[in-house]
Amino acid sequence: MTDLGYDGRVAVVTGAGGGLGREYAFLLASRGARVVVNDTGGSTGGEGVDDGPACTVAREIRDQGGEALADTHSVATPEGGQGLVRAALDTYGQVDIVINNAGILRDAAFDDTTAEVLDPVLDVHLKGAFFVTRPAWAGMQEQRYGRVINTVSAAGLLGTAGKSNYGAAKAGLVGLTRTLALEGAAHGIKVNAVAPIALTRILTQSMAKREAPQAAADHEAEPVASAMTVDRMRAFVDRLAPALVAPVVAYLAHEDCPVSGEVYTVGAGQVSRFFIGRTKGYFNPALTMEDVRDHFVEISDQTEYTVPSDPGEEIAQLFKVIGGRSEHA
Ligand SMILES: NC(=O)c1ccc[n+]([C@@H]2O[C@H](COP(=O)([O-])OP(=O)(O)OC[C@H]3O[C@@H](n4cnc5c(N)ncnc54)[C@H](O)[C@@H]3O)[C@@H](O)[C@H]2O)c1
Repeated sequence: MTDLGYDGRVAVVTGAGGGLGREYAFLLASRGARVVVNDTGGSTGGEGVDDGPACTVAREIRDQGGEALADTHSVATPEGGQGLVRAALDTYGQVDIVINNAGILRDAAFDDTTAEVLDPVLDVHLKGAFFVTRPAWAGMQEQRYGRVINTVSAAGLLGTAGKSNYGAAKAGLVGLTRTLALEGAAHGIKVNAVAPIALTRILTQSMAKREAPQAAADHEAEPVASAMTVDRMRAFVDRLAPALVAPVVAYLAHEDCPVSGEVYTVGAGQVSRFFIGRTKGYFNPALTMEDVRDHFVEISDQTEYTVPSDPGEEIAQLFKVIGGRSEHA
């Protein structure tokens, strides 16, 4: 089998000045992609700007013989997204790949989740994916080719206390991923998502807060992963290299990517698919509140479940049950 390459494709990687995005940018560039390295270079909370991280990564790629452009637009505004895509088009003439990776944390208990901690997180993670992908979408439709990778999180898929803003933004990206997969299908555009687990400053900060919750005098929240202690995470941190997430993102960004609308969790070289399942459930055409109480175990039972690919398939399953039952009524 031959190695996978990008054959001059152009990739926009947001938040590529460090952490996971940096690894994505390096891997894509090393396989022939021309890469726009976007990053505002601020703090983990999104404060401040610094063109250093984006410029350094772009320079390092060029030093290694790759092609890269540094960009410091913020993904958190429509103007920023347009400016970023414009920079890519002006320099390279096309955008084939968008990796929405930029991220910030403003953890807070739900009581303390004021607009000040909610809006910036929604703006960067959720709206940022709209603001960057939309300007690139028209060109992808025209060229009948595109790859979009969104970055979600177990905090959104499964929930994590103290991260309602972040979890809601990340779960929202799942809906965006699945919807764009459907809209892009007729135009050769594939849209998928990854939920990474990697030792970056975001994970380090979350772990530090869990270790010293009292130190969060500003009411930023403490928990990072309700089911896993920091001690257990610490035992594995040296295995959680961001570079081990990059191959999955790179494959989803490649022409050969066989799927669209899917979510993969990846960390330390372990890759799995997340999916949304529907239990077989319970049906009663004269359903009452008490029926719900009395059949709750059956409703929740996971032994027989399906994974509907879209709302049409889910409704078809419902109609099958209704139709089957009425035939026998
Ligand atoms: N590390 C993990 O275990 C983990 C887990 C789940 C999800 N994620 C997600 O992975 C992505 C990458 O995070 P990371 O772990 O590499 O952390 P990171 O802090 O190293 O990287 C995030 C980057 O985004 C940049 N950024 C922030 N706001 C921006 C903006 N408005 N415009 C452009 N760039 C901006 C930052 O400057 C930073 O370089 C994030 O979306 C994060 O939520 C990470």
